[in-house]
This record gives sequence, C-alpha cells and structure tokens, in this order.
Amino acid sequence: DQVRVVIVGAGPAGLVLGNILRARGVDTLVLERNSREYVQNRARAGFLGVHSVRVLTEHGLAGGLLRAGRSHGTCVFRTGEGELTLYYGQLGRGESHVVYPQQDLVTDLVASYLDRGGELRFGVAVTDVDPATGTVRYRDSFGAGEVTGRFVAGCDGGHGVTRQAVPGRPATRDHGVSWLAVLAAAPQSMAAVTYALHDRGFAGHMARGPQVTRYYLQVQADDEPSAWTEERIWTALGERMRVGEYWPLRTGPVTERRIVHLRSAVASRLQHGRLFLAGDAASLISPSAAKGANLAIMAAEVLARGITDVLTRDDERVLAAYSRTCLPRIWRAQEFSHWMIELLHAPAGDDPDIGFRRSLRRARLDSLRDSRAHQDFFAENYVGI
Ligand code: APR
Repeated sequence: DQVRVVIVGAGPAGLVLGNILRARGVDTLVLERNSREYVQNRARAGFLGVHSVRVLTEHGLAGGLLRAGRSHGTCVFRTGEGELTLYYGQLGRGESHVVYPQQDLVTDLVASYLDRGGELRFGVAVTDVDPATGTVRYRDSFGAGEVTGRFVAGCDGGHGVTRQAVPGRPATRDHGVSWLAVLAAAPQSMAAVTYALHDRGFAGHMARGPQVTRYYLQVQADDEPSAWTEERIWTALGERMRVGEYWPLRTGPVTERRIVHLRSAVASRLQHGRLFLAGDAASLISPSAAKGANLAIMAAEVLARGITDVLTRDDERVLAAYSRTCLPRIWRAQEFSHWMIELLHAPAGDDPDIGFRRSLRRARLDSLRDSRAHQDFFAENYVGI
C-alpha cells in the first residue's frame, strides 16, 4: 500500500496541503483521528491574513471565504485611560484580515479535497512514523495498520505524534498566562477586535459571525471552566471591558468555554528523512495575535510546492530549503505574538518589579498611540506573515 504523500491530520495545514497537491495530480492520503463532524464543527481561529487569503484564492479554495468572510481592519485597545483605535487596514502595507470561522474553512477544504479525488480517512489515529522509510502506523476501528509514503506530512497539531519523530528538542515557552476562551451565541458587541487591559486581567472581544462572538478572559492556570458560570463570565467581561464607561455587551448563551494556556513550541527543524512538519506540529503559537492558522497555510503552501517540484520535475531545491524558508517566518510571528502577550497582560500585585512591568506596558501603548512609525510596524506584523 504505497501512497505518494501521506498527510497526518485534517486541520488547515493538512487540508490546504492535500488540496494543492491534488490539484497538481499528486496521490495523497489524509489520515484524521477524529470524525468529519468533529473537525467541521470545532470552533477555533477566524482571522486570515492577506497571505492566507492569497494562497487560498490562487488554489481555488476561497469560494466560501470570499462569499461569507468579512473584511476587518480595525482594532481597539481599551484601558483606564481611554481607547486607542488603530485602523490597521490603512496603516503599514494597508492590509486587512478576512474574518471567516476556521470550522467553515475546514468544511470547505474537506469538500474540495474530496472533489479533487483526494482520499481521506476519518477515525484513524496515527501512532508512529518512521521518517527513514516513510512508514506510518495507525489504529482504526479495524485494528492496527500501516501505509508508506514517499513523503509524510506531519500536520497533526500541537499535541500530535509526528513531531516526536523529528530529532532535536523544540524551543518552548510557557507564557505563564491562561485564557478562558468563550464562544457566545450573540452578535458582536463592538465593531472591532477589542483588547481590554485591566488590573484584574485581560479581556478580549473578536467577531466570528453574525450570531457568534469570541471572548477571552485571562484566568488562573488551574481554573476549571465549569467554575466560570455564564453570570460570572458576563460580569467579568463587563468589568474588564469597562462597559459602564462605554456601552453594554450583547449577551447570549455561552456555547463553549475552554481554558487555553498560552504556550509556544517551535521545532528545531521541520524535516527529517521523508517526514515534514507543518502547522501547529511545526510551531505551536499562542493565540494572542491570531497567527496559528496563517502559519499553517504558509507552511502548507511551501511544502506543496516543494513536493510537486520533486515529483513533477525532479527539482529538489524548494523542498530542501523547507525548514530554512519557514522557520524565519515562524519566528517573526512568534516574536510579534510574544510582544502582544506582554502588551495585553500586566501581572497583578504591588511589588516593584510588577509595577515596573505595568509601566512599561503603558509606555508601549503610548508609543503606539503617538508614533505613526510604530503603528505601521504594528499593522505590518499584525496582518502579515
Ligand atoms: N492521527 C491522526 N490525526 C491526528 C492525530 C493522530 N495521531 N493527532 C492529531 N490529529 C489531527 C487532529 O484531530 C486535528 O484534526 O490533526 C489535526 C490537526 O489540526 P489542527 O490542530 O487544526 O492543526 P493545524 O492544521 O496545524 O492548524 C493549526 O489551526 O486552530 C488553529 O490554533 C490552531 O491556528 C492553529 C491552526
């Protein structure tokens, strides 16, 4: 059972890769542990940068997102000193995001992949990959099995097995911050992405769809999601978003609450033998700057080009440079994401070190408010990869 490219994981990384390869006539097999319903309903990110939209458009994968996605080019920092609004779509390179829920993108990508004649098996958990031979071992409802690929793409997310087959320790960081990620069945409360900076902790507001809004609340690392009742969530959001000074939130039933620990992990190399890592498997990034899905699409495109060059014209250059091409971009995103984390979270307490960090944060916001150059820099990094 020899397949040309075995792709582990049907998230944005695996599905974009599979789609581009299928469009170029390459044999592919995607193995996904969960069911189709599960991956198509899992709400995650939603902000796509210009590069992602370009890749999806060029490869005929942007139908849904061009139809239903909404352009978004403003963000607001709300503090005790007022609001700072950045029209980032008109700053820097003049680029905006397209907001399109990730589960809708995944749904589109599954459909087009199957249309392109791609093979996709749900309910198959890969247990181990041999990078030297390209053998992928898995378990499904029939028991254990294996397939061999000339190439194997590890697109199995931040907690997958494929990255363990690549030697070298990833560079990791626990940012020491946890968020309660909330989805509310309610229209957005504000026109823009809003980051509320408050002594009790960060609170965030992000549009998703006409009747769905994403909120984040900074919480204790050991908090149980169930301890956050709807009432407690809306009270904390209201307080940190200072609704008394602005306008009330448009509340609705909370449909998801999940604790996210802000952590990063970047593999030291993205390739070993026949195995190539892409997406969260290559680099887990905190959601503070909405880079995860965009990095996944970036890597998938480079990898697809590299593999096609080898298979269609025996040209190994792009594939050989895969790590070298992607890692600097991944690190730029990590750096910006880290910068955002520092901006959004001031630790509580009155010891002098904490006071120092809080004042640094204020100075950073002042600089963003006053300096056009700083705003341009922010905009370029916020939307770009
Ligand atoms: N075998 C098969 N499939 C697996 C295995 C396994 N052992 N382990 C994980 N998977 C599947 C998961 O079920 C999931 O569907 O791999 C897929 C990985 O998808 P994502 O986690 O979405 O990762 P990726 O495609 O890299 O996209 C990353 O999407 O939601 C964002 O925060 C995420 O923004 C990041 C981006």
